[in-house]
Amino acid sequence: MIGVAVLGYGTVGSGVYEVLKLNADSIKRKAGEELKVLNVLDLRNFPGDEVENVLTHDYEDILNNDDIKIIAEVMGGVEPAFTFSKKALMKGKSVVTSNKALVAAHGPELMKIAKENNANYLFEASCGGGIPIIRPLCVSLTADKINSIKGILNGTTNFILTKMTEEGKDFNEVLKTAQSLGYAEADPTADIEGHDPCRKIAILSSLAFGKTVDFNKIYTEGITKITDKDINYGKKLNSVIKLIGSSNKIGDSISAMVAPFLFNEKHPLASVNNAFNAIFVNGNMSGDTMYYGSGAGKLPTASAVVADIIDCALHLGKNVPIDWDCDSSMDVLPIDDVPVKALIRVAYEDIENAKKAVYDVFGTEVFIDLDEGDDEFAFIAENETEGSIKEKKEKLSSFAAVKEVRNMIRMEG
Ligand code: HSE
Repeated sequence: MIGVAVLGYGTVGSGVYEVLKLNADSIKRKAGEELKVLNVLDLRNFPGDEVENVLTHDYEDILNNDDIKIIAEVMGGVEPAFTFSKKALMKGKSVVTSNKALVAAHGPELMKIAKENNANYLFEASCGGGIPIIRPLCVSLTADKINSIKGILNGTTNFILTKMTEEGKDFNEVLKTAQSLGYAEADPTADIEGHDPCRKIAILSSLAFGKTVDFNKIYTEGITKITDKDINYGKKLNSVIKLIGSSNKIGDSISAMVAPFLFNEKHPLASVNNAFNAIFVNGNMSGDTMYYGSGAGKLPTASAVVADIIDCALHLGKNVPIDWDCDSSMDVLPIDDVPVKALIRVAYEDIENAKKAVYDVFGTEVFIDLDEGDDEFAFIAENETEGSIKEKKEKLSSFAAVKEVRNMIRMEG
């Protein structure tokens, strides 16, 4: 028997408990030994739930129990999860986690401590929920040099955008449904403002490119400014809006960002709907590979956590190396230098002169009108950088015929 502890009995923690119980037989076969939850740590009580039999409010109970060899940290947030993980690893216990905030902020330090103590720090569930993506990057694609990663990395925002697009539903109403389904973070700001996919693309990029990518250097925009108008422009262009995290290798640096993008409906990412996530990886030998599945939710995320527990059980007392140089940082290109193509919406005082201004500044005479009897049109800016487009938008706004530049949605391709 190998003792396991679960830190946090929320959505994912209760899922981990359930997966270990429901699939106990096959898990025992695969791990080589029975995996038994000896403790669950939570500040709350759960009257009537069988977890009460193993519940503790004191982390020292877990730390001082030599039978507990593996800890699933599914509390979320940086503290106390960081301190708890560090203490466990220093005692030679392996730690697995779904906590992207912690992995993005302190993953390298925790991996180093794990190595020094012949333990493992694994985090498959931190990116893409139940989708196997960390292990493919660490194991299956090791013969490749990765050129780029791009994906839908947040279930909550994909759920919201899908319902807004398909059912014309209101943003706040759909957010409440996503929360009730257990997709959203405790504070959904991390989802809707893009901070959650930012942490995830930082983790995936660090693994893909072998050096730490600082999430603070990743330009991040969420979906709170997306309106039904943006969605309707997308429909007019046979495209849908998806919140995308992406990173591309450019020489010794990478370009990385999180932002809403328009995808032609024929692109495979365009048909990834609801809380599903998908990640595209381009390798210099394998070409494109895509990973698809439930990006959020109790059992899919718990499945990834338990797979890591099994991996730790198979490697007790032995650190499995991960190609992530914890002492080196990856250069991230300044956002202004990143190439971009975008749909730009312009509100006008005088339509003819506003279109002339667009031609003068951006050199295009092709305009898109929603035929909704409103005061705006849109156009597509190509062959720009983020910096040049910012300057040109400011210039365009200074024309008397232009009321305002209303929104800009980046376009794939
Ligand atoms: N809040 C996250 C999401 C959970 O919606 O994708 C999974 O990381």
